This record gives sequence, C-alpha cells and structure tokens, in this order.
Amino acid sequence: MAERFFITTLLLSIISFSSTVFASSPPCSSISITGLPLVRNISEIPQDNYGRPGLSHVTVAGSILHRMNEVEVWLQTFSPGTHTPIHRHSCEEVFIVLKGSGTLYIASNSHMKYPGNPEEHFIFPNSTFHIPVNDAHQLWNTNENEDLQVLVIISRPPVKVFIYDDWSMPHNAAKLKFPYYWDEQCSQEPLKDEL
Ligand SMILES: *[C@@H]1O[C@H](CO)[C@@H](O)[C@H](O)[C@H]1NC(C)=O
Ligand SMILES: *[C@@H]1O[C@H](CO)[C@@H](O)[C@H](O)[C@H]1NC(C)=O
Repeated sequence: MAERFFITTLLLSIISFSSTVFASSPPCSSISITGLPLVRNISEIPQDNYGRPGLSHVTVAGSILHRMNEVEVWLQTFSPGTHTPIHRHSCEEVFIVLKGSGTLYIASNSHMKYPGNPEEHFIFPNSTFHIPVNDAHQLWNTNENEDLQVLVIISRPPVKVFIYDDWSMPHNAAKLKFPYYWDEQCSQEPLKDEL
C-alpha cells in the first residue's frame, strides 16, 4: 500500500516536473508575435540545428511564430557535406543561394510510383531555383570548403514534409513529418484566425 502510494506520488511529481520544464523552456510565449519588433535583426533571431548536425535554421518569418498565413521564409546554412533528407511537400518553394555552392537533386516524377533517378543541378552563389509542388528533392552542400547558405520561401505554411529513405521508395511510403522540426515547439498554440 505504502509502496503504491510512493509510486503514485513519484509519477505525479515526474508529471508536474516535466510540465514545469515545458512551461519554462523558452518556446513560444517569449518569442510570440506580440513581443516582436516589426523590423528584426536577422543576426538576433534564434537559430538552431534541430538535432541535425551541420544545419543552422532561422525562421525569418513563420506561420507558427509570426502568424504568417500564406508564405514562410527561412535562412538556412549547411556546413560542408551536409544535406536535407530526400523529401517532398505540397507547397511551392523558392531558393536563393546567398553563399557557397552545392547540388540540387530533383525527381519530377510525382505521377509515377516512386521518384526514380534524380536530375542533378549545380547551384552557385546568387543562383535561384524553385521546386515544383510535390517533386521529391534534396539539397547537398557538396563544396568541401565552404558553408552553403540559402534563403528559402515556401507557400502554404506550416510545411508538411514527406521523407523518403531513398529515390526508389514509393511516394505513398514516404513518411510524413508534421509538425516539422522547427514548428514542433510552438505548434500547440492555436493559430490566429479571422478577426
Ligand atoms: C544586428 O545584430 C548583430 C549581432 O548581434 C549586431 O552585431 C549588429 O550590430 C546588429 N545590427 C544592428 C543594426 O543593430
Ligand atoms: C546577384 O545578382 C544581382 C542581379 O544581377 C546583382 O545585382 C547582385 O549584386 C548579385 N549579388 C551577388 C552577391 O553577387
């Protein structure tokens, strides 16, 4: 009896401890739109690698953080040799290469069963490209000597990403990752709707 009481108390204190940790970790409230200046210094916007070594991601303007409805803008830096997963999403996406170079792999086969062999495109400083809706793609920093920095604009945020293990994985087997890594912290908060 005493033992059961002890375990219950222990469980309750773990639960209340973890909710305290959640409540006090910095996510949304401290960076919510109400507290943000209209003009923001990009160097001072929080950046993180969201568990992906070699990545730096900054949500410049986002649906969850800044209540954007139509578009979202990211600044991402990939250290040499790092890359995105092979993935697709049903939004439009535009890249502007600010620094560095690399390779874009893209398979425009969303009408087939699986992506298949991707096309390879060299990307270079001040180049731009867009990813058609649902085309599986992957961005690599294939330059051993320099970071690759891109500004990314997507439509229809927050992004719903389907991830492939390889180019021969069927489209319908690609795994949905939603909310995506940088949207996880704040996605519990309701989005602002019509006034
Ligand atoms: C923007 O932030 C960076 C890093 O904190 C700082 O060095 C720079 O002076 C800031 N720019 C302005 C105009 O405040
Ligand atoms: C990028 O291209 C535009 C248009 O030609 C040019 O004005 C700009 O200076 C270029 N930027 C860099 C970093 O090369």
